[in-house]
Amino acid sequence: MKPDAAPRRVPLAQLPTPLLDVGGLLPPSTRLRVKRDDLTGAALSGNKVRKLEFLLAEAQERGLRRVVTCGGLQSNHCRATAIAARELGLDCTVVLRTATPPDREGPLTGNVALMRLVGAELRFVTPEQYAQRARLLPELAGTDGLVIPEGGSNALGAWGYLACVDELIVQWGTEPPTAIICATGSGGTLAGLAMGVRRRGLTIPVYGVCVCDDAPTFQGLVAQISAEAHARWPELPALAPSDVRVVEGWVGRGYALSTPDELADLAHVARTTGLVLDPVYTAKAFRALLRAPEAYGEAPLFVHTGGIFGLLAEPLQPAPEPG
Ligand SMILES: Cc1ncc(COP(=O)(O)O)c(C=O)c1O
Repeated sequence: MKPDAAPRRVPLAQLPTPLLDVGGLLPPSTRLRVKRDDLTGAALSGNKVRKLEFLLAEAQERGLRRVVTCGGLQSNHCRATAIAARELGLDCTVVLRTATPPDREGPLTGNVALMRLVGAELRFVTPEQYAQRARLLPELAGTDGLVIPEGGSNALGAWGYLACVDELIVQWGTEPPTAIICATGSGGTLAGLAMGVRRRGLTIPVYGVCVCDDAPTFQGLVAQISAEAHARWPELPALAPSDVRVVEGWVGRGYALSTPDELADLAHVARTTGLVLDPVYTAKAFRALLRAPEAYGEAPLFVHTGGIFGLLAEPLQPAPEPG
């Protein structure tokens, strides 16, 4: 593999994460492998840690003291940023979107509880206020803070999954997958994977399964991240919207809302394999594969991007007993 000018990276994730064969879920002629990026760490876990290795290196390089970021109330990205910032001795402010802010003195759950535990400054804002985040975040960052966009999804953050592709190439060796599938929520993971595969001259299709919005939205987002990355690091490929494969049809009731069918599939996967998916991202994305495996060839590779604390944010609905 040709070395190129990757930006500086601060080690935060436990790498390489395992690439495991998972039987019992797809037809026997299909070989399913799962990239366990839910295992990038314990509290500091999931896909965001890979992006933060590059984003927070920039904060260190510029001598900044604080990071400011944003997301939904139970954002995995905000939790990972708050914990990683603490590990590196940086302060962190998180702007969390919610129509119903939790009671400041009351108990918090899931990701929000962890953000509070590591002492991040929590700012609860309404969806209307959140729409102004492009103005709000730089104000909060001031002169010594780094603004990290939603999901850590920008050209620098995309390096997390550009690097992950190189990790995967070593792991799959002479047995490449027929497709790579991940959840897509802000486009950064999909952008990094798709650029990473193209950068190494591979033609393996990379599919992002929408957990919100629609295909044109994510095709546009990924193309934009890729254009910015190409402008900054010309050796990276610039992807057009038509190069980006986005799978629709699995959003269900909407972002962070579950249906009984989704929860039943999440429970089925857990009971069959011990693999624990999260209801907001990975369970929705995995259903694309579980329910329509023929679309991804005989050796699909699913990237488990984490999200375990979202699963524990609400009391779990009892899933129906199997058959
Ligand atoms: C668990 C989990 N999986 C997948 C995603 C989607 O990744 P991305 O925001 O890079 O599209 C996120 C975050 O949005 C996440 O928290």
